Amino acid sequence: MNKLSLFSKKSPDDPKLPVDDIPEAVRDEYEVSKQQFIQPQKKWPIGKFLWIGAIALIISMGLHFKFNQTQDKVFVNQLKENIGVTVAKPSPTPIETPSPSLTPSIQQKENILGHLPYSEAPRQELKPVFGNQNVRLRSSAAEKFDAMVDAASAVQMNLVPLSGFRTLVDQEYLFFEEKAKRGQVTSQRAEVSAPPGYSEHHTGYAIDIGDATAPETHLEVSFENTKVFQWLEDNAGNYGFELSFPRNNPQGINYEPWHWRFVGDSHSLETFREAWSLEEELQKENQELTMSKS
Ligand code: DAL
Ligand code: ZN
Repeated sequence: MNKLSLFSKKSPDDPKLPVDDIPEAVRDEYEVSKQQFIQPQKKWPIGKFLWIGAIALIISMGLHFKFNQTQDKVFVNQLKENIGVTVAKPSPTPIETPSPSLTPSIQQKENILGHLPYSEAPRQELKPVFGNQNVRLRSSAAEKFDAMVDAASAVQMNLVPLSGFRTLVDQEYLFFEEKAKRGQVTSQRAEVSAPPGYSEHHTGYAIDIGDATAPETHLEVSFENTKVFQWLEDNAGNYGFELSFPRNNPQGINYEPWHWRFVGDSHSLETFREAWSLEEELQKENQELTMSKS
């Protein structure tokens, strides 16, 4: 039988075609040809795969982005609820005047137990500070900090940079891991540490400073008894640094004698504008209180 006529007249899948009818010499050839005949029907073109792959990738990227956004919102809202801050529902009309019965620290809309929201400094604006590659500040603050260290060391004061810029992830670790290790509830933790997104360290303008000769006072209130702290109180202002959280600060944050922020240029001033306005409001309230008593 002619092989060509076999395939042109009948499908090789035709069960009616008795294979035994094919002469033995042609049978093997028939099997090979049958596969060749069937193959193109089963094979998907590569182009089709690429298109499907590309569409699946675009859809999964979109879903991933949406999921992350939702997760972030859920995380922040949960955090706020955990520490007793009411999560505000979008209001149709803007609230123009805050209730006069509230003190400034309670009026803060976006605050979490007095901590103000801050965004991360762009990485390219950060520079390692004098003597420590692991501690970075925005370059304007880093230059002034280096000058301050030089001036201090000229009078035998050894300032140590302990911690500068921190990412949200760094702060998340510090906040939640330490909270778990110390067995603190969220509000207790927030008294001594800012939640992620609410640390001055995100700005690249805040730095924790220690005294090299008294490591036991690092990040402790007892740092206020060191010579370095006394020197900072008298001189840091000349380099644009101020203590962020003195005793009885208007934000209600625990006293942190080691934590200083740079406010020596317009951008840093703008960054801490809200903290400053709270301070002004508190001063005004205190003045009014003193006047009403006298
Ligand atoms: N340690 C202070 C509260 C901050 O991170 O902003
Ligand atoms: Zn600090």
